[in-house]
Amino acid sequence: MIMANIYKHKVLILDFGSQYTQLIARRIREAQVYCEIHPFNINLDRIKDFSPKGLILSGGPSSIYDKEAPLANRDILDLDVPVLGICYGMQYITHVLGGMVEKATDREYGNAIINIQDNRDLFYGFNNEKKEPVWMSHGDRIDRTPDGFRVLANSKNSPVAAMADESGRLFGVQFHPEVAHTPNGIKMLNNFLFRICQCEPSWTMASFVRQTITDIKERIGDDRVICGLSGGVDSSVTALLLHEAIGDKLSCIFVDNGLLRRDESKEVMDLFKGRYKMDLHLVDASDVFLIKLEDVTDPEQKRKIIGREFISVFEKKARELGEARYLAQGTLYPDVIESVSFRGPSATIKSHHNVGGLPEIMKLELVEPLRELFKDEVRQVGIELGLPKELVLRQPFPGPGLAVRILGEITRERLEILRSSDVILLEEIRKADLYEKVWQSFAVLLPVKTVGVQGDQRAYGYTIAIRAVQSVDAMTCKYSDIPHSVLDNISNKIANEMGDKINRIVYDVTNKPPGTVEWE
Ligand code: XMP
Repeated sequence: MIMANIYKHKVLILDFGSQYTQLIARRIREAQVYCEIHPFNINLDRIKDFSPKGLILSGGPSSIYDKEAPLANRDILDLDVPVLGICYGMQYITHVLGGMVEKATDREYGNAIINIQDNRDLFYGFNNEKKEPVWMSHGDRIDRTPDGFRVLANSKNSPVAAMADESGRLFGVQFHPEVAHTPNGIKMLNNFLFRICQCEPSWTMASFVRQTITDIKERIGDDRVICGLSGGVDSSVTALLLHEAIGDKLSCIFVDNGLLRRDESKEVMDLFKGRYKMDLHLVDASDVFLIKLEDVTDPEQKRKIIGREFISVFEKKARELGEARYLAQGTLYPDVIESVSFRGPSATIKSHHNVGGLPEIMKLELVEPLRELFKDEVRQVGIELGLPKELVLRQPFPGPGLAVRILGEITRERLEILRSSDVILLEEIRKADLYEKVWQSFAVLLPVKTVGVQGDQRAYGYTIAIRAVQSVDAMTCKYSDIPHSVLDNISNKIANEMGDKINRIVYDVTNKPPGTVEWE
């Protein structure tokens, strides 16, 4: 079979720091064109090696007149490749080609209407003179295009809302076609990809799966791979891709740290060992973890202990299983983008538990088949591979598990209370058809005792906090607007079923920032 080279028709996005850069990439991938994000100052030779069919210059928070303004190598505009500058990217093109960027006194932010004047290329298929809603977010604007450029559209505040050079290779738009608030933005981006860059839509998850399985087979040969399986989407898809490619040369390890939700380890074992017949090894290390966590109340301490213990348990088991050359990890694209984007402070707020450090300690080479994928693409790959929908659409669950959802000391009793409350909460969320509509929903146990009344008796029990949030990437979140009737059901059921252990249930109405998703 001749395999379409899914990486051949690709686009390079140069990042000037916009919060929307990843969104541009996702839109392009959705149009089935492979793309990568690199910093604006990437070396010209690397761009040539990448051999893109088109270049996109992202927006960014700077003014072209700032002292520290990010200025890409001007020669990128002379490569024989179409270029689309978005917002700051357009201002950059204008500035370096001798047009006039006007310094703004105010930012234009929000919905705007553009009038399309020229629908030959970027606006192909749009009516000339038709008013088109777009999303603006800019300070500076273009006062005069560089010589030889034509205006494609204008708006009340931007005489040059879109422009192109005469030959139709260099383009700029003042607005953001990648955001949902520009309803026909995808059509504009598609014009750029398919009419202007002549890309072919070859990036599909079915083709990714085929290509990746071939690549893995070739790379691994007769060597062995180990993989930590947690039952989350990323590690499950990683393991399954590897399993499809190399079968029993893959051994997976599932560590039960005693901090999992009810029945979690059984479900993972049933699916991957039972149904997929993977060489999967369960290590029940609950006792070790819980002993190490005894009397520990500090959140960072908890995270560090769990991270350390995980590595130690995993390493021991891996050695027992015999020599392997590779370690498979479910690293995703947002973790590897070398980017100047605004990323929020989250990364440094909590030490995240992952298998960091393992490859060095164990002298293993990494296999990261999802390194190029966004989360929604990983989910599609999971579906391609036939993983159950419930697993593919699972809400994220933190590596340190319930330990960061029990404030203060972790005891077996508290774990059981939280597990039971969490089951009730998720049952009600599912019943209300909200599970896939919220980013995460879970219970948190607060070892704060309050006075209540149960069956005419004074009760003095713990508190459960209900947490449900909306998010796109976990960097920020908004608390979910769960209907009162659903909160009511959760509250009543938890209070009824947990007896005097829980007599108060509260709803967390904190966004991130200032809070975080997890309580610890
Ligand atoms: P925070 O609490 O930092 O969480 O706002 C952001 C997202 O990350 C998840 N989370 C973790 N995931 N290991 C993980 O794999 C961790 O240590 C960890 N801590 C938080 C959290 O559930 C949310 O989705």
